[in-house]
Order: sequence, then C-alpha cells, then structure tokens
Amino acid sequence: MTTSTKAPAESSTALRKRGRVAYISQFIKQPFVIGAIAPSSPQLARRIIQGLGLDKASVVVEFGPGTGVCTDEILPRLGPNTRFLAIERNQGMYDEFRRRHPGTTIVNDSAENARAICEARGMLPVDCIVSGLPWASFPDDLQDRLLDAILSVLKPGGDFVTFGYHIGTWLKAGKRFYAELPKRFERVERSEIVWQNFPPAFVVRSTKAR
Ligand SMILES: C[S@@+](CC[C@H](N)C(=O)[O-])C[C@H]1O[C@@H](n2cnc3c(N)ncnc32)[C@H](O)[C@@H]1O
Repeated sequence: MTTSTKAPAESSTALRKRGRVAYISQFIKQPFVIGAIAPSSPQLARRIIQGLGLDKASVVVEFGPGTGVCTDEILPRLGPNTRFLAIERNQGMYDEFRRRHPGTTIVNDSAENARAICEARGMLPVDCIVSGLPWASFPDDLQDRLLDAILSVLKPGGDFVTFGYHIGTWLKAGKRFYAELPKRFERVERSEIVWQNFPPAFVVRSTKAR
C-alpha cells in the first residue's frame, strides 16, 4: 500500500490532457479493472454527488477515483471539517490522481481493504462512499467483498453512490450487482439516464439501514 498527500504542481490544461492519455493507456493495460474507455463527464460527476450533503459529512471516501474527475466535483463541496480519502488500485491512475490533486489523500490499494484503511486513519464511520468502480466487470466474489467492505465502514443511514452504463445492466455481472443492492441496503434509488456522458450512464444511490 502506498499513501500520498503531496505531489508537484502542473498547469490545469496539461493535467487534463495528460489525464485523458493516462486513462486510455491504463484501460488498454487493465480493461477489466478500469472498466470504461473514458473518464466520466463533469455532468455525470455532478449527478453522482447531487443531494449527498457533502458539506455536512464528517468522512467521505471515494473508491476508484481514476484520474479524479469526480473528485474535482467533490472537493469544493466538502465542509470545513469534512475528511476525504480516495482509494485507487491501479498504479497509473494513482500517479495521475496525485498530479491532478496534490494535497488530497489517496491510498494505492483495493477498496476491499477500506475498513483497515479508514480505521488506521481514525476515519470510521464513513458518512458517504462515492464509487467509480466498474461493477459489471467484477466476478461475484469481488463484488461481495467490496459490498461487505462498504457496509462495514458506512454509518447507519449512510449513502453509497455508484454509476453504471445501460449496457452493463445486460451483462451477467451487472445484473447480479444491481440485484444485490436491495438485499443489502434499506433504500436503493436509480436516476434518469445522464446522456452527456460516453457511454450514457445512470446513478444508483443506496442507503444503509439505520
Ligand atoms: C470506470 S473507472 C472510473 C474512474 C473515475 N471515477 C471516473 O468516473 O472517470 C474505474 C476505476 O476504479 C479503479 N478500481 C478498479 N477496481 C478497484 C478496486 N478494487 N479498488 C480501488 N479501485 C479500483 C480502476 O483502477 C479505475 O480507476
């Protein structure tokens, strides 16, 4: 596991360009870990965090931030006392995130280990988890370990937000994941399609029982 809070500065245009290139090259290397050919659009990122009340949260954790496009929308909305942590498994994405978000805490590890990662930093329980993980590419046992980890860190009434592509709901793993959510969470809400994303996507917000 590697952890970082500091990285050298670079211009924002250079970072965006470099971020897109880094994203595609990591997709080519690890398609089933990355799960999408392009980063989420700002419109999708804004829809993902809509209504989460990030300003009032004590702890917010992001799973699979990639190059950090959703993080761009999360960070300015956090309250003055909110603690934020990102967990990214892919080394290339982790390096790119550090360039794009110097000073933001990110851990290079699997989100399956979220409980130990948060516990070590005194960040339990978690109010809200924002996930960019490609659930429809994951085998059943990995889905289960990740969902167990999510429920083990979330506070009662806490939210887990993720997104998916319509095509993913046709895949066996995607069907299985969306069927698991109502078994494990008290409330599950699916958004309208966000067309300003490639591919078009929807957001699913699941709330842990109180
Ligand atoms: C579809 S990309 C989403 C990236 C970004 N959130 C976005 O919306 O553009 C999925 C990300 O999840 C990361 N990932 C996949 N499995 C993971 C795991 N077990 N733990 C943490 N990150 C993981 C991938 O490396 C990749 O960066």
